[in-house]
Amino acid sequence: MLPSRSVGIDSIGVAFPAQYLELADLAEARGVAPSKFVDGLGIRRMAVPAQDEDTVTLAARAAREALQHASSSGEDVGLLAVGTETAVDHSKPVASFVQGLLGLPRAMRVFETKHACYGGTAALQLALDWIRSGSARGKKALVICSDIARYGVRTAGEPTQGAGAVALLLSENPRILQLDAGQSGVFAQDVNDFWRPLYSKDAVVDGHYSVKCYLEALEGAYRDYQSLTGPASEGFFSDRFAALAYHVPYGKMAVKAHRHLRGLDGDPTPEASFDRLVGASLRFPSEIGNVYTGSLYLALTSLLATSGTELEGQRVGLFSYGSGSCAEFFSGTVCAGAIARMQSLRIAERLAARRKLTVDEYEAIMAARERMDSRAPEAAAPAPFQYLGVEEHRRTYGPGLS
Ligand code: HMG
Repeated sequence: MLPSRSVGIDSIGVAFPAQYLELADLAEARGVAPSKFVDGLGIRRMAVPAQDEDTVTLAARAAREALQHASSSGEDVGLLAVGTETAVDHSKPVASFVQGLLGLPRAMRVFETKHACYGGTAALQLALDWIRSGSARGKKALVICSDIARYGVRTAGEPTQGAGAVALLLSENPRILQLDAGQSGVFAQDVNDFWRPLYSKDAVVDGHYSVKCYLEALEGAYRDYQSLTGPASEGFFSDRFAALAYHVPYGKMAVKAHRHLRGLDGDPTPEASFDRLVGASLRFPSEIGNVYTGSLYLALTSLLATSGTELEGQRVGLFSYGSGSCAEFFSGTVCAGAIARMQSLRIAERLAARRKLTVDEYEAIMAARERMDSRAPEAAAPAPFQYLGVEEHRRTYGPGLS
């Protein structure tokens, strides 16, 4: 029996670049019908990181927001984990840079987790169990999902890029989402659907096969979840959820996922419930693109920040997928007051304030990022959490908090 502690997400912080590319502009430049990217893939815009931005700076900004939102100085955090598949070093974890930039205390576990887009969920689940078991002794866990999703220019994956980080502060008696203990359906298999060889900055992907692997993993994890929670007493199984958030590499993947899941339920019109159960979770992802590890949690953020308070007290289902592959279907109950707390992050306003790039500017940024991990530090305006460059093999950043 698991201890019956109420454990889950106490606060969320989100960071994304201040510039984006309009997918219709990219389509035009590539000689593709804009409707293919906007409707066919379901993405309006994708975030493009600046030259002083990397996985560390995005993670640090998201973490600072999550801590500030919970009025935490960080003294109450005992575990800091960053899930990422676009780390900045083969050995030193992104989490250590974040610990330094945020001036977090030394009495904590600090590490990085990796399994493609599932890496953040792996960290989340072990941190939740650390708190539930009592080993945390009242301390909180800070789990950050941070990535820059990058495919080659002019490849099929190009329109499914993006960048961003979502930080989750986990604790007992959470104020955002109480996660169900012992009710996690899992599925894993060794496949080559998407990967990034050690010598490459760009991901390699067998695109259509990756969609098949995603759906197979969804089915496996959902069936496993059902075996733990028991069958639906009446109606379709997924109607026990007031909403669903899927891993969203691009919006259409969530459409395919939902159609598949409702088909498993035996729903003869599997798309009819899409807007009701999934629509709100896609608003922010369609503005930012794929953020790999953070993708499910960006969808959850979108769901909570754009729904009404009737979602509070209701159960939501969450699906995390990482290529390679590992997947998890789990659930939680939205806490009272969570909607107002999420709306106070003002994410829609922050998205609207971003700068639009031309395709030429985007291509120049992509080319310059090739040299990013070896360039000498550049003079930069003293803004917090800037990546400056590499000096004597050390990555250097602008001012943090101390
Ligand atoms: P593609 O071959 O360029 O596109 O690659 P397509 O030909 O399959 O068309 C896409 C959709 O647009 C289709 O709709 C077309 O019908 C439609 P669907 O049949 O899928 O419903 N379409 C149009 N719609 C309107 N107007 C038009 C038009 N033309 C076509 N004129 C693909 C698409 C997603 C494969 C590619 O972008 C890719 O490889 N992306 C990267 C891989 C990916 O995101 N895979 C998702 C599953 S794996 C995953 O989620 C893990 C991941 O996040 C990584 C990790 O775990 O770390 C990627």
